[in-house]
Amino acid sequence: MKTSVSFILLFLLSISIDSIIVDAECWERPNPLKPFEKKISSVCGLQKKTKGKLTADVGKESQKDEINSLAAKEAFKFDFSCGVPDKVLCTKAENAFKAAGEIIANVIILVTPITVNATFTDFCKALNECDGTILGAASAARTIPLLDDDKVVRQYPQALAKQFLLDPTPKWGPFDIQAFFNAQADLFFKGDGVIKKNQFDFEYIILHELIHGLGFASAWNNYFSEQPVALTPDPNFLESITDLNQPVKFTGFEETAFDKYMINTRDKGAPKRMTEFTNEINSFAEIGTDFPSVQALLNTFADSKQFQTSSQLILDGQTPKTMAFQPRNVSSNDMVFLETNLKPFRVGSSISHVDIKSFNNDPDFLEVFNAKPGQTLEQVLKATGGKYPIGPKLKSVLETLGYATKENPNPYRPTLSNDSMSTPSNLPIGKATNDQSTSSATSLTFSFNILSLLVILAATLSF
Ligand SMILES: *[C@@H]1O[C@H](CO)[C@@H](O)[C@H](O)[C@H]1NC(C)=O
Ligand SMILES: *[C@@H]1O[C@H](CO)[C@@H](O)[C@H](O)[C@H]1NC(C)=O
Ligand SMILES: *[C@@H]1O[C@H](CO)[C@@H](O)[C@H](O)[C@H]1NC(C)=O
Ligand SMILES: [Zn+2]
Repeated sequence: MKTSVSFILLFLLSISIDSIIVDAECWERPNPLKPFEKKISSVCGLQKKTKGKLTADVGKESQKDEINSLAAKEAFKFDFSCGVPDKVLCTKAENAFKAAGEIIANVIILVTPITVNATFTDFCKALNECDGTILGAASAARTIPLLDDDKVVRQYPQALAKQFLLDPTPKWGPFDIQAFFNAQADLFFKGDGVIKKNQFDFEYIILHELIHGLGFASAWNNYFSEQPVALTPDPNFLESITDLNQPVKFTGFEETAFDKYMINTRDKGAPKRMTEFTNEINSFAEIGTDFPSVQALLNTFADSKQFQTSSQLILDGQTPKTMAFQPRNVSSNDMVFLETNLKPFRVGSSISHVDIKSFNNDPDFLEVFNAKPGQTLEQVLKATGGKYPIGPKLKSVLETLGYATKENPNPYRPTLSNDSMSTPSNLPIGKATNDQSTSSATSLTFSFNILSLLVILAATLSF
């Protein structure tokens, strides 16, 4: 509650000081294993503008071409905390981080270092994740709302937003990527000799997770039930909610940068942008509608015809080759199909990964949802005929999101938005009732403990 109040103050303050409000809410996501713990950042906003804006701007413009890309060794900054007593293991893990960072920085041109809060720890002790299937988890530590060229505001990972050199500059959080790695897993490190049958190459796992942190992450998910019932973008309007009886203002489901390029190929003849579905779903109620309770909002949604759309989409999310990422400048034959084989839908694995059937034995294997035991990154690369851990399609995904590469030095860039002026803030209006009388016949509930966003699993499934 306290953070909410200070957010309002900050928000109003910035209106009175400066009429150009360029930010919607940005979000902190401190724990990738508990994405529901994400919260509105209290330090969202712009950095202080330099005096003499015009001249400063002109100066910046002319500087643009001189901006130097960072050397691969400088591009990632890891704040590494090792939660195990074995110092040798800690050193090996830290070296693997550096190596993975360099692999990425050799492909994409970074002008601002990417900061990673990396925790290497016993998941069972630290996070109560004891079944040992999760090897690692990561997410953008903060997302920033930016305005895309189709007039939609989407949440951009801070790692990417920082590369755009926006002016004025948004306030950044201390970390771009938040990542956890399971020290209880049987891990292989470079220099260990021959990988054992059940070991996982740690560098591979880190690399996979960092790519999620860079933006390989869709907001489309099953947010409302343990069972797959409805696929929607992020219901950020439920964020400060702790109780279904609390009043809430509907401000719309929100997409990530990744979702701008997502298409639905259910109708093979006429693929549709997922954004069209977002718009449709968002029309179940007028943006800005106050609902007396979260449950009332969910009931209204469940009864709406728009809900049928999200019910169909959750089926698509469990039907092979129905969702894809379409990189810029490529023909529709080059669509990157996403993980829609899993049935039931699995939060953390479905959609935000590449289709395992298409990519498991392909040079673009890196973002399939499960890691390969008994093979080093190099061995997998060799086996798939790949030349580099970041395959050609993954590279085009990163370029499309807005990362510069040698071959594509001037990528698309979104701009700062001031949509928060027109969209009401996400804060719940009115007081939470302590009345625990649960509403009757709830067809939808918001799952407050939805688990594990963007994990890499040890589980080897047969595909
Ligand atoms: C890094 O993340 C961990 C786990 O969320 C957190 O406890 C720690 O405070 C973070 N480190 C810093 C320097 O903020
Ligand atoms: C796509 O084409 C445009 C226009 O030719 C170019 O500016 C851009 O760099 C290309 N690639 C990507 C990934 O946007
Ligand atoms: C931002 O707000 C100003 C004034 O309220 C408005 O004129 C402008 O069109 C807005 N820009 C965007 C991109 O929404
Ligand atoms: Zn993953």
